[in-house]
Amino acid sequence: MITRRKALKAFGFGSLGASTGLYLPSLTVAQSIADAGNPLKIPALAQGELVGNVRQFQLRLQQGSSSFFPGTTTASIGINGDYLGPTLRFRRNELVSLHIDNQLREPASLHWHGFHVPATEDGGPHQVVASGDTWNPQFTVVQFAGTFWYHSHMLDTGGEQVYKGLAGMIIVEDDDQQLELPSTYGVDDIPMVVQDRRFNEDGSFRYMNAYEDTVVGMRGDTILVNGTRQPYFEPTTALVRFRLLNAANARTFVFAFSDGREFRQIASDGGLLQAPVTMRQLELTPAERAEIVVDFSDGADVRLLSLGKPSNFPEFPGAMSGMMRSLNAQDFEILSIHGQNGLNDNAIVPEQLTSIYRLPEAAATNTRQFRLSMGSGMRSGDDRGPGTGSRNGNGGGHGGGNFSINGRRMEIDYINERIQFNTTEIWELSNNSPMMHPFHVHNGQFQLLDRNGRTPPANEMGWKDTVQVGSGELVRIIMRFTDFIDDENPYMYHCHILEHEDRGMMGQFLIIE
Ligand code: C2O
Ligand code: CU
Ligand code: CU
Repeated sequence: MITRRKALKAFGFGSLGASTGLYLPSLTVAQSIADAGNPLKIPALAQGELVGNVRQFQLRLQQGSSSFFPGTTTASIGINGDYLGPTLRFRRNELVSLHIDNQLREPASLHWHGFHVPATEDGGPHQVVASGDTWNPQFTVVQFAGTFWYHSHMLDTGGEQVYKGLAGMIIVEDDDQQLELPSTYGVDDIPMVVQDRRFNEDGSFRYMNAYEDTVVGMRGDTILVNGTRQPYFEPTTALVRFRLLNAANARTFVFAFSDGREFRQIASDGGLLQAPVTMRQLELTPAERAEIVVDFSDGADVRLLSLGKPSNFPEFPGAMSGMMRSLNAQDFEILSIHGQNGLNDNAIVPEQLTSIYRLPEAAATNTRQFRLSMGSGMRSGDDRGPGTGSRNGNGGGHGGGNFSINGRRMEIDYINERIQFNTTEIWELSNNSPMMHPFHVHNGQFQLLDRNGRTPPANEMGWKDTVQVGSGELVRIIMRFTDFIDDENPYMYHCHILEHEDRGMMGQFLIIE
């Protein structure tokens, strides 16, 4: 039997497994011996129904029953199905209307991540759909062509609902942006909703069963792609576009191929990059997306992996050091590609994809600071001040509950920031906690100005709605606040590690006259 570690070693990744203490739970090991993998599921494509000039979608939130492991069933949540939802296809400039019918036994919400929409249509923690109730948001799609997603955004319980399946992908298309990129859904344009999950022996989801889950967020030991465990894919074309969505609650993925082959990133969170970026490794933190194009014309078998990230966090006694050192240390197989011979040329990747207007720094009329903190018994800063809870304060590695932004935890009735309509702002994101946080802002897309004063890498120079802020790092972003004024209904900004968000690492802003 070829173990995963041997396989990785054969491809030159042996040291990763060894140095990070490759850990596979017994259920996964047993199953990987028992079966040769599963064809990658492709979520149904929902194109809606055009009624007049409105494109209407029906989305039913429902209890599901999934079989991720043969012979077991997992109680899950789905949208028009058992786990996850259909891929929604929107067109730029079209009016969409979503009929959401909550047939769950609990309240839920659906947020349109990355979209510039009125705050009342945003699907955040203020737009709760009660069990048995319906909600009908409508908005005009103003985003560029790209890969977005939708997911539960319940205050305190969003993490658990997403974990069980309340999420799906959104693809925006733009008739004015027709390139010769691979674009046949499910054929050479492949959605990849990548998640890590943990299961009990009986197959049920295991959520928040360890102390560290409350500190670093919920990470699993089993990869699901579009709800498929151990997926494989057989390309039928030379070039394949993968729309990678990190839909994990807390884990960062570092995508790379087992033979080290190059691929090209063509899009970031908010749409196409100006030009393709050739790379061998691509890191995505939770909620970030990237579209990549890979050439499989060599017919070789190859695996898409997630490489463990070595930690440079210092070693010292207590739980914190161990947690931080193991944070994203594991490597995983994400997708096995079964090579095919004689694949036809199906597309090209143009040297220039689009042109991106860079928001000029001089246009900003205001600068705000956002300081991300974890009061975890370490010297991690700001767990004082209103709404922050108490501090253990003696360095004992306790806490795990005090997540804050600017020293304050999310309060549903407290507006943290008021932003003048039609202005451009610079937000300075800092992080005085021991771990990375993916910072997300609602209501559209921003651009990165710099990381610690340095120009960000080329694949971060496109439109973004979620950005990694490393421990000790200062990231400056620039954003415009246009179109929607609402002095009552706020938008959110938050850490997209869902367990951090659920524990207070979130704030609210209004856009006012
Ligand atoms: Cu992906 Cu506040 O959301
Ligand atoms: Cu969002
Ligand atoms: Cu966080």
